[in-house]
Amino acid sequence: MALSMTSDRAPEPLATPLGRVAFADETWTIDPRELQTFFQAEEVFWTADRTLEQWRRLLAGSRLLTARLEPEGARGGRLVATTRLWSDGAYEAKLYDVVTAKDLAGHGIASTLVTWALRHPAGGEVQRFVLETRDANRLYERFGFQDAEAHATIHMRVTAAELRARGIR
Ligand SMILES: CC(C)(COP(=O)(O)OP(=O)(O)OC[C@H]1O[C@@H](n2cnc3c(N)ncnc32)[C@H](O)[C@@H]1OP(=O)(O)O)[C@@H](O)C(=O)NCCC(=O)NCCS
Repeated sequence: MALSMTSDRAPEPLATPLGRVAFADETWTIDPRELQTFFQAEEVFWTADRTLEQWRRLLAGSRLLTARLEPEGARGGRLVATTRLWSDGAYEAKLYDVVTAKDLAGHGIASTLVTWALRHPAGGEVQRFVLETRDANRLYERFGFQDAEAHATIHMRVTAAELRARGIR
């Protein structure tokens, strides 16, 4: 089996008009309350109902890569971007919660986090990476992501609510 080049080393900090942005794996150190505040402030629609308990469970089951403005005196360290990585370790890894603060959009922060996630060893020796997006497809096409419908497989899903309605769980 071919082993790919992976690295958990954080990317070099990025210069932005608001200062240098540094990258880190904060899976085990971040306070879920800070995450919730960031996602609410950025009006991320898909996390609108996410509770602190759900954030804790997500952090226990996946890796959270972050970007922060480097501290400046007493100020700074502000969380400005996230990307979450989950993997089954053999077949498929998935990216979630790719978000950059609006006032720092367009400076390559999400691209840097996605690049890191795609080569992070927590992804494991998988065969493919997947993600869902409404309108950020141009960002991902740069990495080679394509509409999954272009492949001969059908992407199917069922909600937990539907399974409960059917008495399955
Ligand atoms: C999409 C998003 C993560 C991009 O973050 P970013 O740090 O600005 O990304 P980068 O600077 O690395 O790359 C920006 C590129 O993404 C592309 N892009 C695709 N969809 C985009 C969108 N909805 N908003 C902004 N940029 C988008 C742009 O084409 C841009 O390329 P350009 O520089 O040639 O114009 C950020 O705008 C965001 O958080 N949006 C709201 C949440 C969201 O939709 N996340 C994606 C969910 S899958």
